[in-house]
Amino acid sequence: MTERHTPRVVPLVDQRSAALHSPAAAFDSGTRIAATGLLTDQRARPLRDLRISVTDRCNFRCSYCMPKEVFDKDHLYLPHSALLSFEEITSIAKAFVAHGVQKIRLTGGEPLLRKNIESLIAQLATLRTPEGQALDLTLTTNGSLLARKASALKAAGLQRVTVSLDGLDDAVFRSMNDVDFPVAEVLAGIEAAREAGLGPIKVNMVVKRGTNESQILPMARHFRGSGIVLRFIEYMDVGASNGWRMDDVLPSREIIQRIHAELPLVQLDPSQPGETAERWGYANAAGKHDKALGEIGVISSVTQAFCGDCNRARLSTEGQLYLCLFASQGYDLRTLVRDPVRQADLESAVAHIWQGRKDNYSESRSALSDDGAPAQRRVEMSYIGG
Ligand code: GTP
Ligand code: 5AD
Ligand code: SF4
Ligand code: SF4
Repeated sequence: MTERHTPRVVPLVDQRSAALHSPAAAFDSGTRIAATGLLTDQRARPLRDLRISVTDRCNFRCSYCMPKEVFDKDHLYLPHSALLSFEEITSIAKAFVAHGVQKIRLTGGEPLLRKNIESLIAQLATLRTPEGQALDLTLTTNGSLLARKASALKAAGLQRVTVSLDGLDDAVFRSMNDVDFPVAEVLAGIEAAREAGLGPIKVNMVVKRGTNESQILPMARHFRGSGIVLRFIEYMDVGASNGWRMDDVLPSREIIQRIHAELPLVQLDPSQPGETAERWGYANAAGKHDKALGEIGVISSVTQAFCGDCNRARLSTEGQLYLCLFASQGYDLRTLVRDPVRQADLESAVAHIWQGRKDNYSESRSALSDDGAPAQRRVEMSYIGG
């Protein structure tokens, strides 16, 4: 079944630059905090993962992220002068790495729309952890430009990619991306990424009940044994424009049951602390994980929140630091990075901000309102990245 488009008026409140925490307030009153790589927040969570949005634009209009009715021709995107330059992004990333970040993910919007993204990747690839390790440098893409760009991305120093793909049936997929983009081109992008050595490749599928749930089994069959890890994501109430309703969420438990009924699964241990996905391996006849068949993941932020060990920070396209995907305010780091005198304060600012962090939105979601609907206006995912 494909999605029906009933016209809907959704107010999009512009949270960009509105009511930002001032960078000064974050640390002027405090003492300088040296970078030890051991920073923790108010819930004892370390800082390990930095997601950097490099553009707020996208060539798709997925209804769960940038619905056409809201992101139309009148939508105002950020002007070029507001965007962080690649040098500014790298300076900020360096401060995060000093405090323990080991993984950097480039996101958007669609990150491959940002001109010369390879040059940013090359700069980020030079960063080293305090122990001298290279970073896990990855990128989330809708795959539309991947066939063209995969080898240049690899040559610049990107290690791996995660590709969003919400179905294999062309009609369902075209309707999900809402710009009539064909599935074959995304599959060609995934193939190009594989040939370029951008692995391990992950494929993310957001599941909306009644919209693309018919694609769960075809996707599982297609990627089983391919070396690509398919992850099913519960449709989230992120942002304020997608008209989210709990009824549209298909719980991960049900997804696992449906796949297990045809392709037996066994649960696997987490591969690292703070992981978003619960891992399930395809089983052999003896009921043990068959590595050749590979694994899938389920990301259950609605039905089984994973805030307890959330180690992720998000940097928006214009340099606001968000401590949670569901935050309504960011911390302005652009002012610091653009001021030659205060740039030296970046590390200390990051430390003060992270030390004050308490966010655990998904865990407290059900307490917010009876129907789980957003209680507060929130920033859009296309602005801070997934
Ligand atoms: P890997 O390192 O490749 O395993 O990536 P990841 O799972 O950390 O990141 P990815 O961006 O692929 O995450 C997949 C999806 O999970 C995102 O698109 C979001 O839908 C969701 N997600 C990721 N991080 C968070 C988070 O911190 N909170 C919530 N609620 N959802 C998240
Ligand atoms: N719910 C879950 N995931 C979402 N994404 C965007 N919007 C949502 C949402 N409402 C994630 C998807 C997509 C990536 C770019 O952002 O994983 O693949
Ligand atoms: Fe674009 Fe990804 Fe959002 Fe779809 S989910 S509109 S591809 S940024
Ligand atoms: Fe982290 Fe916020 Fe997601 Fe919880 S809801 S896992 S705190 S980003």
